[in-house]
Amino acid sequence: MQMVKKVGRMLCMCVMMSLPAMAQNIASDGEEAFVEQLLSRMTLEEKIGQLTLYTSDYDVSGPFLRAGYLDDIKAGRVGAIFNAFTAAFTRKLQTMAVEQTRLKVPLLFGYDVIHGFRTIFPIPLGEAASWDLAAIEKSARIAATEASAAGLHWTFAPMVDIARDPRWGRIAEGAGEDTYLGSLIARARVQGFQGQAIGRDDTLLACAKHFAAYGAAEAGRDYNSVDISERTLREVYLPPFQAAVDAGAATIMTSFNEISGIPSTGNRHLLTDILRNEWKFQGFVVTDYTSINEMINHGFAANEAEAGELAINSGVDMDMQGAIFQNELAKLVAQQRVSVAAIDAAVRRILRLKYKLGLFANPFAYSDETREKTRIMAPEHLQAAFEMAKKAIVLLKNDGNLLPLAKNGGTIALIGPLADNRHEPLGSWCGAGDWQHVMTIRQGLAARLSPGCKLLYAKGCNINDTARDGFAEAVQLAQQADVIVAAMGEEAIMSGEAASRANLNLPGVQEELLRELKASGKPVVLILMNGRPLTIPWAAEHIPAIVECWFLGTQSGHAIAEVLLGDYNPSGRLPVSFPRTIGQIPVYYNHKNTGRPLDVNNKYTSKYLDVANSPLYPFGFGLSYTRFSYANLTLNQAAMTPADKLVVSVEVKNCGERAGTETVQLYLRDEFASVTRPVKELKKFCQITLQPGESQNVAFALALNDLSFYDRNMQWTAEPGTFVVMVGANASDLLSARFELRKR
Ligand code: GLC
Repeated sequence: MQMVKKVGRMLCMCVMMSLPAMAQNIASDGEEAFVEQLLSRMTLEEKIGQLTLYTSDYDVSGPFLRAGYLDDIKAGRVGAIFNAFTAAFTRKLQTMAVEQTRLKVPLLFGYDVIHGFRTIFPIPLGEAASWDLAAIEKSARIAATEASAAGLHWTFAPMVDIARDPRWGRIAEGAGEDTYLGSLIARARVQGFQGQAIGRDDTLLACAKHFAAYGAAEAGRDYNSVDISERTLREVYLPPFQAAVDAGAATIMTSFNEISGIPSTGNRHLLTDILRNEWKFQGFVVTDYTSINEMINHGFAANEAEAGELAINSGVDMDMQGAIFQNELAKLVAQQRVSVAAIDAAVRRILRLKYKLGLFANPFAYSDETREKTRIMAPEHLQAAFEMAKKAIVLLKNDGNLLPLAKNGGTIALIGPLADNRHEPLGSWCGAGDWQHVMTIRQGLAARLSPGCKLLYAKGCNINDTARDGFAEAVQLAQQADVIVAAMGEEAIMSGEAASRANLNLPGVQEELLRELKASGKPVVLILMNGRPLTIPWAAEHIPAIVECWFLGTQSGHAIAEVLLGDYNPSGRLPVSFPRTIGQIPVYYNHKNTGRPLDVNNKYTSKYLDVANSPLYPFGFGLSYTRFSYANLTLNQAAMTPADKLVVSVEVKNCGERAGTETVQLYLRDEFASVTRPVKELKKFCQITLQPGESQNVAFALALNDLSFYDRNMQWTAEPGTFVVMVGANASDLLSARFELRKR
């Protein structure tokens, strides 16, 4: 391998430098006139119908199904249907709407297209581990291309909830613990789903969810209470939603939870003061599944009428599945508890988007069997899913460079309940994904190993039960092998909605089997397939190689095999910290320093008696088959003024034997401020690929906004003083330097 010594200078044009143009839409200037004219002809009942969303019985995603939704369509009592797709079925329902109702207003068809429609990509947490914003946008673009070919207009995605608690199963659906990374990914996904123009036949309306702070559920228990300060709400949980709105997200979905006593679905501060008045959001707000009704359980509404009144007067436009708007709004108008103006405002927002989609011009534009046949699972889609799956994989440990494995000789014993499993890799929200198209690890390895290499396989145990009868066969195979690959993890349904776990170890008897495999004396590689960080302290200590593979979708087996055999050098970086034990949770990198920060030599400092404070694997962490070094962190000036840009540069070198991709991360700390600030916050990153021996000078430009925060009066500002800038490979492994922000 010729050692290449090249020093180039790369200015990382970090993507938050300027907000994108609002997503363009195709609507001509006739939109306002058309909408006003239609609205003027609608009865109150017809208006309320537009504010109502029901699930079909084609697929179901919530606690109960409303009988008679077809009659509702024919009677004009519903404006949108979810969980209905295929060109034929949507055409059938659309025909009812535009032929049997008085005003022939077309339906909107929505669905949870979370990480792919039929070609399934890695779960969103896995995609976030790629830190590749272009690839993430492309994934959403392909999902929209396929879903819109199956009659769908609208996806209930991206889920942009920041999550610091891996007990919460829905951490799988988002972008992890960091607000900056989460905001960039929110924008990329909205742009991917909505493309360059709403209404093109390969786009979907996006829906940023769940507004807001759903990931802060107490104890990580889904739907549980959230009690956070306005400061935490604005600094941690809201920015990804604002990024989605700024990217032109057409819709927003309210969350099930309360925030400090006020359920989001009845929270006017959230839905009107912030979303509409501060952020100028122009789209419509849909509730989550029966979340209006659930304000009664919250003890926030005494009955359905009051719940409906609270929802519409807070800023909700569409009632998902609750039938409260349908049953109560007309009476509330008669009682003058809800104004017709409020209803008209909601109807306008919905009609505008139907117009932008072109549905009044051609209600069947998306229900096209020809497109459905040619676009879904197109080869280029499968290739993109394969590329993304490889980028999502995070190498957590590789002692003795056990990986990559030799592909041209020896015997590999592939063991574990996820080694040849075609269902779990699709993840928990796999839309119309088809397990029959999933490539397993066994298939992926078999397709790549040379004839001289033997691949033995045993399931060994199940994912989540106590059966040990498969152990003997597995251990026996292990004895015959040169290396053991153990594929273990969770069932897909152990993460996602209503899937919180109070214990995060490998479920069932998988760790017992792993210990027996280790006892064989053969080297063991552990492949993890999971929807959240797991607690794996024993494996982290005793297993030489560990690879985090999340749930990688349709191309799972191909991607994992390519990493195991060295055809792809793993480049994933953790978007979420891995705790050592659940007792640490929440453990996240951008924590406060406290008045007694950890000092191992001082009893009276913030620590545990039995566990280190640090996570097992930190945010931003990931290894490579090569090694990168960081040196010469330099600032173009020791002090900056508000008008300046501070240029921070560092030299990154590939010190290993093979090319690799590194995600260079820049963190910042405001050392002293009018409110306490985190010990560090991710502010920039960029990805570079270096050949063996190659060095590159990477530079970032920091501006005043990067130093800003909400001060004591909740004003967004930057305060003069000293800052520490840190650059490196992850949140723990950093070079640092100080600089000053001067008044002028
Ligand atoms: C579910 C989920 C939400 C989803 C909706 C429709 O309850 O909370 O994320 O989009 O219902 O399926």
